[in-house]
Amino acid sequence: MTLPLVEHTQDHLATDRFGQPLRGVEAVASTNERAAAWAAEGAPEGATVLTEYQTTGRGRHGRAWSADKGQNLLFSVVLRPTLSPDRFGLLTVAAGLAVAEAIEPFVSPHEARLKWPNDVLLEARKTCGILLESSLTPPNTDAVVVLGVGLNVNQADFPDALADTATSLRLTTGRSVPRAPLLARLLRALERRYDAVQSDGADAVRAAYRDRLVGLGAATTLRVPGTDQTLSGTVVGITDTGALRLRTADGSETTVHAGDVTTRSKD
Ligand code: BTN
Repeated sequence: MTLPLVEHTQDHLATDRFGQPLRGVEAVASTNERAAAWAAEGAPEGATVLTEYQTTGRGRHGRAWSADKGQNLLFSVVLRPTLSPDRFGLLTVAAGLAVAEAIEPFVSPHEARLKWPNDVLLEARKTCGILLESSLTPPNTDAVVVLGVGLNVNQADFPDALADTATSLRLTTGRSVPRAPLLARLLRALERRYDAVQSDGADAVRAAYRDRLVGLGAATTLRVPGTDQTLSGTVVGITDTGALRLRTADGSETTVHAGDVTTRSKD
């Protein structure tokens, strides 16, 4: 049986490829995992898997992603980028920007901001996490990237460990938000910004991203992806490929690469 959320979303969908087809499953280990399997079977670019509940949702840097059943948006889109892999960081920033833009009409007058590389924040709390995972499957060396989005929509509370740092659209606005039109809008925004970074729109994406970037000009400390190291400095902006530009205490500039398109080895 088709999930009601899938049927309702199809009524609103105005994309060329994203969400086409849109598959819904009541529960799954991880939509990223399911989308990667579908891609390996030949799913076209834009094919999307949506679920109401994940048993082992994946977050960045090996963390878990948990979300209450039936309240949120949990989905993954199959991408077959033509962009060279050293520019995949742009996909990361484009996805964050697209989500921030798409949710804003639903949270008015609140503004959606971005914490590098692609956490979407409302009132300084995280409302959306995005996980891009890529694989190159020999003998076919064309990259497949799975873009996974976990957006807290109508979740009314969070476990104690997250209570101070996480939020949802509902907690921010005090209103319940209809998920189908929101998802249709998200897919459209993701498609537009994805197409832009793959054509001649990367400058516009970077500029719009910078306008929403939290901490620009402020001192920050961040963990270097994949290591135990931290780096401190002042955020100056992002590079052409989506890396974070930091000015360190000695006045020199260093870049931190999104490193955020996690490459998973296939077993
Ligand atoms: C983060 O750590 O901020 C990224 C979280 C990404 C969660 C989403 S939920 C849908 C998709 N499937 C997963 O297993 N993870 C992503």
